[in-house]
Amino acid sequence: MNELIDPNGRRVDYLRISVTDRCNERCLYCLPENYSDWLPRAEILSDDELLAVVRAAVSLGFKKFRVTGGEPLVRPGVVDFIRNLIALPDVESVQLTTNGTRLPQLAQPLFDAGLRRINISLDALDEKIYRAITSGDVRPVIEGIKLVKQLGFPSVKLNMVLMRGKNDQQILPLLNFAAEHDVALRFIELMPVSLTEMLSEKNFLPAAEVYSILKHEDELVPLTEPLGFGPAKYFRLKKRGVTVGLIGALSDLHFCERCNKMRLTCDGKLRPCLGNHLETDLKPGLRPQIDEAKVRELFRSTLSQKPSEHLFRHNYQPQRVMTAIGG
Ligand code: 5AD
Ligand code: SF4
Repeated sequence: MNELIDPNGRRVDYLRISVTDRCNERCLYCLPENYSDWLPRAEILSDDELLAVVRAAVSLGFKKFRVTGGEPLVRPGVVDFIRNLIALPDVESVQLTTNGTRLPQLAQPLFDAGLRRINISLDALDEKIYRAITSGDVRPVIEGIKLVKQLGFPSVKLNMVLMRGKNDQQILPLLNFAAEHDVALRFIELMPVSLTEMLSEKNFLPAAEVYSILKHEDELVPLTEPLGFGPAKYFRLKKRGVTVGLIGALSDLHFCERCNKMRLTCDGKLRPCLGNHLETDLKPGLRPQIDEAKVRELFRSTLSQKPSEHLFRHNYQPQRVMTAIGG
């Protein structure tokens, strides 16, 4: 079996695929106000091009794929793309990260397409706080979460990006909501991944502080089996019967040690690390015609440059918005 091992000895088998840089929301930590610098449509990879990249990745040993954006569910035809992705031989796991706003319409078609694992961003339950953060409406998101549970998606996780002074009062309401609906809840430290200037000492809320709050509230039992394929640390809250994950992207000094992923931007750039400007343009292997051997070669050369850790603790300045890179 093919395996990709990076220069730091990490096995890389997980590809996050951004299928669009567009979004119907506008989160504070993601898009600058009045952002309009969307990539021209012709730059965005077609379904055939995306699937060719996946086939090349699979032939090298990638097994797990996550569809992201921007907001992936605003891409026309995304359900068909996901069905085709799931159907590719040797694709072991396909997951979706979404802001949840389109789930009331799309949860059923996605389930029918074979999708079973879904992460939904939910930074607040309160309508006003949610709107202040995302500029959108929380109600369809809540409806969507209830629907995916009803449909029987076996893996549903909520993502909350932590912002002091913005949503810290929502930690307990979200915890109770997750317990009530039997979904996992992950707390994510704010990262400097977008062009917005949200991340400051004032806004930053470390995962350790959430850990203290949770410990005060409930009995925490560390999970020995990881839930999913990422760097989160998981705990079971005994009294509430809910699973929580802590993603200490900045505060956890071991965060990158087991990094198993690479990212594909929606315009065909392969990024070996979220917190580094390195990227390889795969388009020479895709246009004017698809050349899978060339794509494979570009994957290998990108892997050989995978940094040992992100640069977030070194005054990292992103050059692209998060929606273009893929969350
Ligand atoms: N810091 C931390 N998480 C972020 N996300 C988007 N931008 C940031 C950021 N600056 C999260 C979203 C979503 C996932 C795709 O990435 O909340 O859950
Ligand atoms: Fe859209 Fe997700 Fe960015 Fe929010 S974080 S603006 S939902 S892409």
